Amino acid sequence: MSNSVEQHIEERSIFLETFGCQMNELDSELVQGQLFSLGYSFCDSRSDADVILFNTCSVREQAENKVLSRIGELGVEITEGRQVVIGMLGCLPEREGKRLLGKYPQIAFICGPSELDRLPSILQQAVLGEKMSTTDRVALQGNRSRRLAALSAADDTLELLDLSRVFDPDFRTSTGSSAYVRITRGCNKFCTYCVVPNTRGAEIHRPPDAIVEECRSLAQSGAVEITLLGQTVNHYRYTHNVALNSDGEEVPQIGPSITAFSKPVDETQRVTTFANLLQRIHGEVSEIERLRFVTSYPKDFGDDILEVMRDCPRICNYLHVPAQSGSNRILKMMNRGYTVEEYLEFIERARKIIPDVEIAGDIIVGFPTETEEDYEATCDLIRKVRFKNNFVFHYSPRPGTVAIDRFKDDVSKEDKRRWLNSILELGGTISGDVHKAYEGQTVDVFVERISPKSTKQAQVELMWESGRVQLSGRTQGDLICVFDVGSEEEANKMIGTVVHVEVTNSGPLLLEGTICCNYEK
Ligand code: SAH
Ligand code: SF4
Ligand code: F3S
Repeated sequence: MSNSVEQHIEERSIFLETFGCQMNELDSELVQGQLFSLGYSFCDSRSDADVILFNTCSVREQAENKVLSRIGELGVEITEGRQVVIGMLGCLPEREGKRLLGKYPQIAFICGPSELDRLPSILQQAVLGEKMSTTDRVALQGNRSRRLAALSAADDTLELLDLSRVFDPDFRTSTGSSAYVRITRGCNKFCTYCVVPNTRGAEIHRPPDAIVEECRSLAQSGAVEITLLGQTVNHYRYTHNVALNSDGEEVPQIGPSITAFSKPVDETQRVTTFANLLQRIHGEVSEIERLRFVTSYPKDFGDDILEVMRDCPRICNYLHVPAQSGSNRILKMMNRGYTVEEYLEFIERARKIIPDVEIAGDIIVGFPTETEEDYEATCDLIRKVRFKNNFVFHYSPRPGTVAIDRFKDDVSKEDKRRWLNSILELGGTISGDVHKAYEGQTVDVFVERISPKSTKQAQVELMWESGRVQLSGRTQGDLICVFDVGSEEEANKMIGTVVHVEVTNSGPLLLEGTICCNYEK
C-alpha cells in the first residue's frame, strides 16, 4: 500500500462507543491504543466521525437494542447521503454472526472479541472497500469455533492484544490513573441464562509474568489503581510447564493456560493461583496504591485469597460476588453450582478473615418459574448479607443459552417489575445503614473526578454558593465519597491520588465528608 493511501486512511476520524462490562471497556482501550499507534485520530461525537465503531454487549436484550437503534439511525443518515464506515465489535456480532450483515447493510464489518487483534487490518480493508456485498464484508467471529476446536495454548493470538497495550502517557491521560488488567478471558461456567461462555469462549488464564509486567508498565505511566478482570477471577490458575536447560536450571515455558485442557499438575509443572498472583502484584508493583478485582464467583473462593487480601494493605477490602438468587431451586435451574447456605458460608468466612470487607452483587429477578416464595428467599438473602449494593436485572432470555431452550419465560412483566423495584428499595435501606456506619470515621479515598454537581447548572439547581467545588472518589470498600475543596486548581491536583476524608454525613448511595488537612502523603 502506498504512503498516500495510508495517510488517507489515518486522516479518518473514529468515534468508538462502548457498551457492556469492564472487559469491553478494556477491549475498547486496547483497540484504541492500537489505532492510536497507527496514527488514527478519535473524536467525541458520532456526527463528526468518518468511522464509527460500536463495541457491543449481548448479555441482555436491552443492551443489544440500544446499539441496534443507533445502527438504525445511521442507516437513515446513510440513505440520506452520509458517508461513514460502521464496524460492530464485541459480543453481539460474536453471538449473531453474519446474519447481522444481512439484516443491516449499513454495517461494513463485524469483529468478535477474540479477533480484536486483527481490527486494524479489517478496518483498513473496510475503509478502502467500495460498496461491499454481504459475502465480501468481513465477519470475524472466533470464540465459538475456538471452543469446539480445543484450541492449543500456542494458538491463542489474542494475547497479542493485551501485550500491544499502549503506555504512552499522552494516550493514558484519557483513562487517567485507574486501569483494568485482564487476567482471565472467557468463562467455563455455563450458567443457563448467560451468553458470555458463547461470546467470550473458553476460560484462558494469562501468564502471570505478562500480568505483573503490564501492571508495572501501567504504574510507570501513572496508574495508581488497578482492577484485575475475569468472569470468575478467583478461578485464576496458571500452570507453568517447566523445562530444564543444559545447566539443569528450570526454564519456565511461556503461554496462556487453558483450564479445560490443562493436564493434572506433575513434577514438570508449577502452578500460580489467584492468591499467588495477588501477592506478586502487591509485592512487585508497590506504586499501585489500590489493587482490586472483579468478578468473584461464590464457589471455590479459598481462604488463601482472603488471607492475602487481609495481609496486603493495598489490596482493597471489596468483593463483587454475585448471588443471582436467594432460592436454592432457582440457583439449581441457573446451574450456579452452589446453594444459599454455601453462599452465606462464604460471606461469613470472608467477614471473619476481613472484618471490614464490603460486599456487592448481582441479582436476576423473574427467572423462569420464579414464585413469590423464591423472591422472598432472595430478599432474605439480601437482609442476611447486607450488601453495599446489588445490580438488579430482569431475566432476559438469550438466544444460544440453555435457559431459553429449556424454560419458558413465564414470569409476568408486572411481577418482574414489582420484584425489581422492591429489591431495589430493600437494598437502598440496607445500603443506607452500611454507609451510616462510616459516619465519624476517617476513610482513605481514591479521588476520581470533580463531582458532576460542581457544574454551574447543577450549582444553580442545588443553590450552592458560587465556586463551590466538590470531588468524588471511592473508599477501599468501593463506597462513593464526596467532599469539598477550595478551588478547581486544588481539585485537579488531587485527582488520581489517595486522600484522607472524615465522614460527616451519609445516604444510601454515598458518604459525605471533609478532607483531613494532612492529605498529602
Ligand atoms: N461473570 C459474572 C457476571 C457476568 S454477566 C458472574 O458470574 O457473576 C453480569 C451480570 O449480568 C450477571 O451477574 C447477571 O446478574 C446478569 N445477567 C447475565 N445474563 C443475564 C440474563 N440473561 N438476564 C438478566 N441478567 C443477566
Ligand atoms: Fe455468565 Fe455464569 Fe460465566 Fe458469570 S459465571 S460469565 S454469569 S456463565
Ligand atoms: Fe456484555 Fe460481553 Fe461483557 S455480553 S457483559 S460485553 S462479556
